Amino acid sequence: MPTSRQPAEDTPLDLAFAQELISPEVTRTLPVGLTIRPLSSDDYSRGHLTVLSVLTMVKDLWAAAWAAQFHAIGSVPDTYYPLVIVDNTLDRILAAGTLFVERKFRHGTGSRRLVAVVTSQQRNRLGLRVAQALVHISGKAGCYKTVGNCVDANIRE
Ligand SMILES: CC(C)(COP(=O)(O)OP(=O)(O)OC[C@H]1O[C@@H](n2cnc3c(N)ncnc32)[C@H](O)[C@@H]1OP(=O)(O)O)[C@@H](O)C(=O)NCCC(=O)NCCS
Repeated sequence: MPTSRQPAEDTPLDLAFAQELISPEVTRTLPVGLTIRPLSSDDYSRGHLTVLSVLTMVKDLWAAAWAAQFHAIGSVPDTYYPLVIVDNTLDRILAAGTLFVERKFRHGTGSRRLVAVVTSQQRNRLGLRVAQALVHISGKAGCYKTVGNCVDANIRE
């Protein structure tokens, strides 16, 4: 798993993939005080699971189990790209997304993306920014398309 530094701070973060894969354009577009970056090995304490709970019932993982999953995901090369948007002042995650790269026999390389935003921050364009960042990575990974899934119950008229 690559180790990198969060550009805005001096604190070393153990990131799930290289920061360079994050779209500079999306980074520029974010409101002041928010950072978009790859998931870090200590993001359990920043509320990563709370963000994911808007998608589905989330099993209450202890920190050690969450960390084991983080490292298991990172041990599969060039496949999982989990990222987050963090409120720097609160040091809390507001939005999260993952790109999952699929290698197919008939269509080459495709990808799926999943996006979640904490309830209090929905409709503030954070979901859009996460989706744009995932599509950017998808292009860098050579995917011919990226598919976003959403259950009907979450679709608003
Ligand atoms: C769906 C979700 C990721 C969107 O993120 P967001 O930050 O709230 O949405 P944004 O402000 O970025 O909106 C982007 C666009 O999506 C639309 N949109 C947002 N949520 C929507 C929903 N639930 N149904 C339909 N359209 C939606 C917005 O109207 C906007 O459209 P526009 O560009 O035409 O104005 C977020 O609301 C969320 O996590 N919801 C709960 C979980 C979920 O449904 N995830 C989707 C996968 S199942």
